[in-house]
Amino acid sequence: MHTRFFSAIFGMGIGLALAVPPAHAADEIEAKAQLCAACHGDKGVPADPKTVPPIWGQEQGYLMKQLRDFRNGERASAIMAPIAKGLDEGDLRKIAAYFAAKTWPARRASAKPPSPPKGIAQCQACHQPNFQGGMPAPRLAGLSQEYLAAAMRAFATEQRTNNLDMPRFMQMLSEGERNAIARYLSAL
Ligand code: HEC
Ligand code: HEC
Repeated sequence: MHTRFFSAIFGMGIGLALAVPPAHAADEIEAKAQLCAACHGDKGVPADPKTVPPIWGQEQGYLMKQLRDFRNGERASAIMAPIAKGLDEGDLRKIAAYFAAKTWPARRASAKPPSPPKGIAQCQACHQPNFQGGMPAPRLAGLSQEYLAAAMRAFATEQRTNNLDMPRFMQMLSEGERNAIARYLSAL
């Protein structure tokens, strides 16, 4: 009788112990985020901004969706696919929250604000008037001209189709107009 009572209590104890999150959960995410620093930068500035976008301070929902899209192949990237496949669903959410909470890497503001190119106004409805992003559209201000131009071209040519609207919007612009927009956004 006593034995059964104690084993029940003991069993509950173990149940509780397992339900409590490990004390090092935050450290675990920190350790996983260290993997990302190799390319995305340990202070938020990517090693090669021409091909690697900053993820510090980017929209949380956007980060989460991109990691999922890389994982299930909806957004093709030979580099990011295996990385995203190595993260489980819970990790994706925590890692997106971790990077979204960081501060976007500050840069020296350009001396003279660039004048807005043709076609830019329609982007503000989703990417926000200051281009700093808003659910579900990502921040565009301060990404590199090369990365922005490549992302816009990938939508226009339907190499990137993980969004239904963006390919159509990009096809309405000429390559020259897209490049002017990329140059403008990168200077913000
Ligand atoms: C070996 C270099 C490398 C590592 C390591 C790496 N990334 Fe990336 N990441 C890239 C490249 C390159 C791209 C751009 C892919 C493209 O557009 O084709 C990218 C794109 C992304 C994007 C999309 C951002 C945007 O603006 O669209 C997210 C989110 C991201 N990475 C998150 C992560 C996370 C989280 C980790 C760590 C778990 C990580 N990356 C590790 C190279 C890397
Ligand atoms: C109807 C809303 C909407 C409008 C208007 C819009 N976008 Fe987007 N844009 C989005 C969303 C949502 C995404 C994220 C798609 C995804 O899941 O990958 C996106 C993604 C992007 C990206 C990829 C960013 C990255 O980090 O890879 C670029 C570049 C971009 N938009 C540029 C523009 C430009 C330039 C315009 C105006 C000509 C524009 N967008 C108009 C909603 C919009």
